[in-house]
Parts: sequence; C-alpha cells; structure tokens
Amino acid sequence: MSVISHLVAMAKNRVIGVNNDLPWSLSDDLNHFKQYTLNKPIVMGRKTFESIGKPLPQRINIVISRSLSEIEGVNVFSEVEDGIAFANQYNEKHQLEDEVIIIGGAQIFNETLPIMNRIVLTQVDCEIAGDVFYPEIDMHNFSRKNVSSHLKNEKNQFDFSIDLYEKI
Ligand SMILES: NC(=O)c1ccc[n+]([C@@H]2O[C@H](COP(=O)([O-])OP(=O)(O)OC[C@H]3O[C@@H](n4cnc5c(N)ncnc54)[C@H](OP(=O)(O)O)[C@@H]3O)[C@@H](O)[C@H]2O)c1
Repeated sequence: MSVISHLVAMAKNRVIGVNNDLPWSLSDDLNHFKQYTLNKPIVMGRKTFESIGKPLPQRINIVISRSLSEIEGVNVFSEVEDGIAFANQYNEKHQLEDEVIIIGGAQIFNETLPIMNRIVLTQVDCEIAGDVFYPEIDMHNFSRKNVSSHLKNEKNQFDFSIDLYEKI
C-alpha cells in the first residue's frame, strides 16, 4: 500500500493559516519541509499554491483546482484522486519511494483524511489567530515517533516539535 502523508504545521488550537499565508515564521520548519519533500511528488490545493507563489524547485508539483487548468511547471488536476494517481505513477516510473505528500491546505487535508496513513506533524507551541484549521483526528489510530524538537530563537518565532505518526 502506498504511503499518503500529510505534511503539516499546526498551532495548539489547530490553526494552520491566516489570510492565505502561514501565521508564523519558523525557518527551521521550512528547512524540514524542504528536506522532507525534495525530489518527491507534492500535492496541494490551488490556494496553497498561490500562497507559495511558484512551483517548488526539485519537487513534482501537483495542484488541485477546478478554476485553473494550466500552470507552467505544475501538473494541474481537477480531482484530488487524479492528482494522487499521477503522483503514484510518477513514483513507480522513477522507482522512487512509494510516498505521496499532501502539503495542504485545509480543504485538501480534509478531503484526503480517509486515505492518509502518515502525518508528519510540526506542532507549534502557540495559540494563534487564523482562518484555516487542520481537521480533528483520532490519534489513537496512530503510533508516534519524535523526529526533533526546536527552541524559539531569532530564526524561529515559537518552540516547535516535529513528530511522525504512522497509522496502525
Ligand atoms: N501550516 C501548514 O502546514 C499549511 C500547509 C498548507 C497550507 N497552509 C495554509 O492553508 C491556507 C490555504 O488552505 P485552504 O484550505 O484555504 O485552501 P487549499 O486547500 O490550499 O486550496 C483550496 C482550493 O483547492 C481546490 N480544490 C480543493 N478541493 C478540490 C477538489 N475536490 N477538486 C478540485 N479542486 C479542489 C479549489 O481550487 P479552485 O478554487 O481553483 O477550484 C479550492 O479553492 C493558507 O493560509 C496556507 O498558508 C498551511
């Protein structure tokens, strides 16, 4: 079975975004995001793509949208399932690890909840105002492995930890 991951950073009140942007500045989490996704297929909603502003280099960018059909440097699909199928085919063709990484936002996380089987979760140690939230999940169905912990400093606005949860 292929791994379908959610790669997400959320606050203690489950906020993941505000005004189509991230609500914090966490340089080391962005580094982690880059390292985790390099050379892999990443699936995102149109709004997340627009908030990033360009295709992420050295990754297979897959954007889900009904309003846009073509974006330079990006594979656009009007159905989430088709985007994921494309990612799986890409992995197979290039003999890559069998993982499709969903990078958000809230709409795409919600729609892929039933098929997601890994969460790479950055837990940001703050309660913060926002307008998009990561869905509630029954974590009893997951086993946790701590990846790293980071203290607030000049590059990271808040303390945060990164954990990897695998569906049992
Ligand atoms: N903290 C984090 O880890 C994280 C990660 C990612 C994003 N974010 C934040 O999340 C926010 C964006 O999230 P969002 O929930 O507003 O938007 P989103 O999920 O990024 O994108 C929503 C758009 O995706 C398309 N879409 C969604 N479901 C679809 C479906 N079933 N079929 C076809 N198209 C579909 C639609 O595009 P069209 O309107 O073009 O049809 C929809 O408007 C931003 O604030 C961003 O910074 C945070």
